[in-house]
Amino acid sequence: MNYYESVKHTASYIQEKLNKIQAGTVAMVTGSGLGGLADDIQDRVELPYDDVPGLPVSSVKGHAGKFIQGTLQGTPVIAMAGRVHLYEGFSAREITTAIRALYECGVRTLLLTNAAGAVNPAFNVGTPMLISDHINFMVGHSPLRGENFEEWGERFPDMSCVYDRGLRELAMQCALKLSIRMEVGTYLAVMGPTLETPAETRMYRAMGADAVGMSTVPEAIVAHHMGMRVLGISCLTNKNLPDCIQEVTHEEVLEQADKASADMIPLVLEILKNIG
Ligand code: HPA
Repeated sequence: MNYYESVKHTASYIQEKLNKIQAGTVAMVTGSGLGGLADDIQDRVELPYDDVPGLPVSSVKGHAGKFIQGTLQGTPVIAMAGRVHLYEGFSAREITTAIRALYECGVRTLLLTNAAGAVNPAFNVGTPMLISDHINFMVGHSPLRGENFEEWGERFPDMSCVYDRGLRELAMQCALKLSIRMEVGTYLAVMGPTLETPAETRMYRAMGADAVGMSTVPEAIVAHHMGMRVLGISCLTNKNLPDCIQEVTHEEVLEQADKASADMIPLVLEILKNIG
């Protein structure tokens, strides 16, 4: 079985276990601290990743994650609560299999959230950042490496506009309506799991990054490759500045992500309400 066939197999298993996947379903990946979003899903059906053939299972015990299907603000959704990361040892292709499979199930819109460090000195902790563009700095890794399957997209896909303009406009309008301050910027993805040295942070800022994190870009690349509409929002959990660098612990990132979700959750709910 090649990768394309294997993803088809994964997709048919998901379709068998979930309720019928309606047109207009939004897939959303809930990053660190945003698990609370999935709590409000109505009429839910859950499917743990470890039950699904072909999906990588997280090495972090108890954090394997699951799909949660239902409705949020009247919009049909499939939340992916928990994601696998490149730093766990999987390939970029493996960590994006679930996105390919949801596409095969008919999903055409993807909302990605994550926790990220702010490298733009003007951006504050706790503020959501709309991702307008990205830098794939997961050096040597691309989810499109290897055989290309034309059924999904081109060998050399255009990346001039990965994050859908209409969805970005909608997100801005929702933030304005709720009086939530939201920054807009470029997300740079690193493999991790190390956080940045001051020299690395300085380099990323010089390269044009506003925020840095360890996820999202591989998922956005495969979704855009297949022509899905992609929206990405980072939750800025720490300042990551070279000249006043502070120690960051994973616990602090998670704690801040929880606090910052105070703005992120209503914002995402408003977006879902109006996504159409
Ligand atoms: N660097 C990389 N990943 C992160 C950070 C950071 O400062 N904060 C949250 N995820």
